[in-house]
Amino acid sequence: MKRIGVLTSGGDAPGMNAAIRSVTRAAIYNNLDVIGFRRGYEGLLEGDGIPLTVSSVGGIIHRGGTILRTARCDRFTTPEGVREGFQRLKAYDIDALVVIGGDGSFRGAYELHKLGFPVVGIPGTIDNDMAGTDCTIGFDTACNTALQCIQKLRDTASSHERLFIVEVMGRAAGFLALEAAVAAGAECVLVPEQPFDIEQLCKKLHYAKERGKTHSLIIVAEGVMPASELAHKLKDTASYDARIIVLGHIQRGGSPSSFDAVLASRLGGGAIEALLRGEYGTMVGRTSGKIVTNPIQVAWEEKKGLDADMMTLVDILGI
Ligand code: F6P
Repeated sequence: MKRIGVLTSGGDAPGMNAAIRSVTRAAIYNNLDVIGFRRGYEGLLEGDGIPLTVSSVGGIIHRGGTILRTARCDRFTTPEGVREGFQRLKAYDIDALVVIGGDGSFRGAYELHKLGFPVVGIPGTIDNDMAGTDCTIGFDTACNTALQCIQKLRDTASSHERLFIVEVMGRAAGFLALEAAVAAGAECVLVPEQPFDIEQLCKKLHYAKERGKTHSLIIVAEGVMPASELAHKLKDTASYDARIIVLGHIQRGGSPSSFDAVLASRLGGGAIEALLRGEYGTMVGRTSGKIVTNPIQVAWEEKKGLDADMMTLVDILGI
């Protein structure tokens, strides 16, 4: 193996730059050249590759976003697109590809692997909805960003004796919502993984108000319903004056937390080690503190469950 490619794909996540830096420097340390493709598979198909060097990945470990930029590439979801990508990689004399992204990006990598091209995936998404790793790159930072926002909302909610319904990202998963709800001490959390009863929710809010609570916070994952819809459902029954807020893409920005910068650095190095060991068609992850590899399709074939105890805890603590 002489030359590898690296790209970031799908939604960006804080820590992707730390992963690019780690992949590049670990590869160069092992005498491999590195080509970075801009805008994910889109850039691969267009031949938009640039050499990455020790110095070109300097000063990026602390930066949010991705210096390689990213895209969601429909063309790469077709067999023709994947074959074209394969040819492009061959034309660049690339021996293996490291893909940093979510499960959609991993599916593209898996298709390349099925054509016989060596790939390794590094899980990067704020959603944390991938099996094969306890945490994906960006999740911790996004939780902290959401927490900071919710803490600010709590101040004004309390002054005005209001209910705030906070919609957080997560696509079809509730990891971000649950983590933020526990950290922020929210009264309720609604996640797609668990059905909820609107009557129960209203009773809980009434009870809280009767006990003298000055405000309430509901965290709703975007995969459940929009905050506006929930506010509408609660309109006639909630005992508080309600306001909604959609945190949106702010959750994807900012410098990575210490946890994410370390995770990204470890997974980047782990990806190069996996390639050197010949573990192709795999993803790297962190399980119980250790860097591990799994077949890449584990990311979406296995279901990563929400922690049921954490869900119960929100109920217990949010009385
Ligand atoms: O997968 C990351 C994510 O931020 C999801 O939480 C969200 O549903 C989606 O991407 C938003 O995508 P876009 O940036 O294309 O609007």
